[in-house]
Amino acid sequence: MIKHTFRTVDPQQSELKEIHNLLLGGVTPRPIALVSTISETGVSNLAPFSFFNAFGANPPYIAFSPAYSGRDGSAKDTLTNVQQVPECVVHAVSHDIFQQMSLSSTAFEPDIDEFVKAGFTSIPSELVRPMRVAESPFHMECKVEQIIELGGTNGSGNLVLCRVVQFHVSETVFREGIIHPDRIDLIGRNSANFYTKASGDAVFALNKTSGVGVGIDALPEHIRNSTNLSGNDLGKLGQLNEIPDSSTVQQFIDEPELSDDLEYHSMLQSAINLLKTDHEHGTFQIERAAKTALAANDIEFAIKALLAIPLISSE
Ligand SMILES: Cc1cc2nc3c(=O)[nH]c(=O)nc-3n(C[C@H](O)[C@H](O)[C@H](O)COP(=O)(O)O)c2cc1C
Repeated sequence: MIKHTFRTVDPQQSELKEIHNLLLGGVTPRPIALVSTISETGVSNLAPFSFFNAFGANPPYIAFSPAYSGRDGSAKDTLTNVQQVPECVVHAVSHDIFQQMSLSSTAFEPDIDEFVKAGFTSIPSELVRPMRVAESPFHMECKVEQIIELGGTNGSGNLVLCRVVQFHVSETVFREGIIHPDRIDLIGRNSANFYTKASGDAVFALNKTSGVGVGIDALPEHIRNSTNLSGNDLGKLGQLNEIPDSSTVQQFIDEPELSDDLEYHSMLQSAINLLKTDHEHGTFQIERAAKTALAANDIEFAIKALLAIPLISSE
């Protein structure tokens, strides 16, 4: 497992820019809320906020945070609007609208309608006054319940806590009953000018075993201390509901059901033979076979192979 060398930063002793950059880099990728609001005089406003997330489902709550300007402490139009008209529509940002989203982040004057500037089509909401962005695939109509000042000074945030009163989800984003990342194709915000495309190769599934795992601490010492197994490898092994007993492992060694088609099966066969004469290299080869099995999600095979090491070595 990796041992890091840390840079420690006390926010009280640091520049605002440095703290902002730490949050942008370390709390990432962040979802982006494209927020539609309306002023008391009826001017529509649209702006993206990545200090944003969901906080509960029953009832559904989300929050985002428009900061006071770091330079002069002035409020963003979005904040002023929700203070005047406590409603908004929060939209997800898909990759096909990211340039328009970016355009809507320009500090246009309060009387400028950013729907028009960013070339979005506005469509009416059902339960709130702000308009919706037709080009976004996911909309949440919200009532603003609380605005919490997080410092009240230059660069500090204002948590806008919203209750979602209506969802609108494009029919195109569903696959097998869920909103599939490849279909909704959202983007996330990273540090500086970096963004993440949350689809394709960036997406992976974590096939978690059900039930309570034994935990990494329950694995035998020779597995926990192996320099070849990573934290992810140990994490997978720690998900097992139980550790096979020695008779199961002995049977695995004596009568292995090995298929020539699986790379880690053939790796194990030669590793077992090597381990009988050369402990160090045999152990290394078994650990490699176990890692390959883990990558293929064959956790049972991996644990049995690893548990075989002390049994074979003592033969
Ligand atoms: C992807 C992205 C995320 C942003 N996130 C935030 C944020 O979380 N908080 C914030 O105060 N400004 C954020 N901004 C900047 C605002 O969008 C920008 O200040 C905008 O002009 C505010 O518009 P308004 O004055 O119409 O409310 C972000 C900009 C972009 C492009």
